[in-house]
Amino acid sequence: MSDASRLSQLSAQAGRVANTSLSQLIAADPARARDFALRVGPVYASFARQHYDREALAQLFAAAQDAGFAPRLRALFDGETVNVTEGRPALHTALRGDFSPASVARDAHAQALQARKRMRAIVEALEASDVTDIVSVGIGGSDLGPRLAADALIGAAPGRFRVHFLSNVDGHAAQRILAGLDPARTAALLISKTFGTQETLLNGAVVRDWLGQHAAQRLYAISANVDRPAAAFGIPPERILPMWDWVGGRYSLWSAVGLPIALAIGMDAFEAFLDGAAEMDAHVLNAAPADNLAAWHALTAIWNRNGLGYATQAVLAYDDRLKLLSNYLQQLVMESLGKSTRLDGSAIVADTVPVWWGGVGTDTQHSFFQALHQGSSIVPGDFIGVIRSDAPYSQNHLALQSNLLAQTEAFANGQGSNDPHRAYAGGRPSTTILLDALDPRSLGALLALYEHSVYLQSVFWDINAFDQFGVELGKQVASRLLPALAGEVEADDPVTRELIAQLRG
Ligand code: F6P
Repeated sequence: MSDASRLSQLSAQAGRVANTSLSQLIAADPARARDFALRVGPVYASFARQHYDREALAQLFAAAQDAGFAPRLRALFDGETVNVTEGRPALHTALRGDFSPASVARDAHAQALQARKRMRAIVEALEASDVTDIVSVGIGGSDLGPRLAADALIGAAPGRFRVHFLSNVDGHAAQRILAGLDPARTAALLISKTFGTQETLLNGAVVRDWLGQHAAQRLYAISANVDRPAAAFGIPPERILPMWDWVGGRYSLWSAVGLPIALAIGMDAFEAFLDGAAEMDAHVLNAAPADNLAAWHALTAIWNRNGLGYATQAVLAYDDRLKLLSNYLQQLVMESLGKSTRLDGSAIVADTVPVWWGGVGTDTQHSFFQALHQGSSIVPGDFIGVIRSDAPYSQNHLALQSNLLAQTEAFANGQGSNDPHRAYAGGRPSTTILLDALDPRSLGALLALYEHSVYLQSVFWDINAFDQFGVELGKQVASRLLPALAGEVEADDPVTRELIAQLRG
């Protein structure tokens, strides 16, 4: 079936379902609370409050089969060239497990294990030193995943080091972090797949200079371009860990790019994080679409975007330790799916990625939830909760959980009133994802779920989830404008010229 006919079937279903309110759908089929939910290891997810019914779901699963979800997952795990525009595989799954007899995937897995051994040796050497603080320098995929995981897991599995993340090229970021640290007790990691990223090279130089004489012993690098850290920073080979072309930046936290995570929580806990992801991988690879958590999640996203036409999607974490989740997902989802060209170069006929945004409950309830309840745009939400709290304040945890439950119920059902200002229309769809506890295994499984959902959405839309040409233009223009800002040349664009005049005072 062509993409266009798949989409028109989806629109027809959505048109039919839209005539029935979400609360009516739920009331008419109480068994959906049980049947529209799945558990995979430590992750439970309920889709019962999404605005579809069994008939629409059956059609979505048929569309998934038609789009080739199962064979395209196999192709991903087997290391086929799924990143067609850059002519390479995307083998992040090989960083976590041995899932394929294909030699490219097996080689990748073997390289990953070797690098993991070297990572462990570095963690142990640092643990045996008098270093107390780590500054991790990187940006985008070389920052957001490690930053999230280290922040989320530090309480569950305390490691030895305080890990600080430096990404922004704004010098205030470096100034703020370094102000509180002692160069004699600090090590720095320069993380960059390409080792050509302006922000990381500039911040790396700032940190190297700040380390002074200690830089000779305390600078480490992680890169797919191992010659560059040696050339640009004089880092010796034993302190450079590898990355590979077959891992995309935003999928790289499972590789040596995860060194800050291992330093924050310990190497054993880092390996538990990989095991959690591998557990999700095995499920997603082997389960039929109707029993497949990533397929449910992906099809729900497609339904909300293409069927119901929702332009944004919120992720609302009801656990303070997941406050960086929405930042991480913004890159994973929007850099992967923010495309409008199909694999064969033709223009896509559907809308692709919605804008992802979010924050942490309950704080966001007191900031933007007003708009989610009564604004004119409907925003589907992924609500993430944690069943077992690790904090000693049980009343707080009960209150947190009751807020999560209350919001999803109120979003779906609304509440009538004679006063239109006090009426809640309801019909706001949500998915509730619950982790048994927030630990390395469950976080690994959750992030792998999102990765696979993103991939399956890309399969449906027939776009490449693994390139990011959209970010290149801004980088090129910025480097062209550096000499204009320095007053050496004139900028071509009249508006830029005027702004430069203002900036130069
Ligand atoms: O912003 C674009 C991007 O290429 C991301 O995809 C990547 O994660 C980030 O820059 C950092 O790149 P690198 O790891 O090569 O420094």
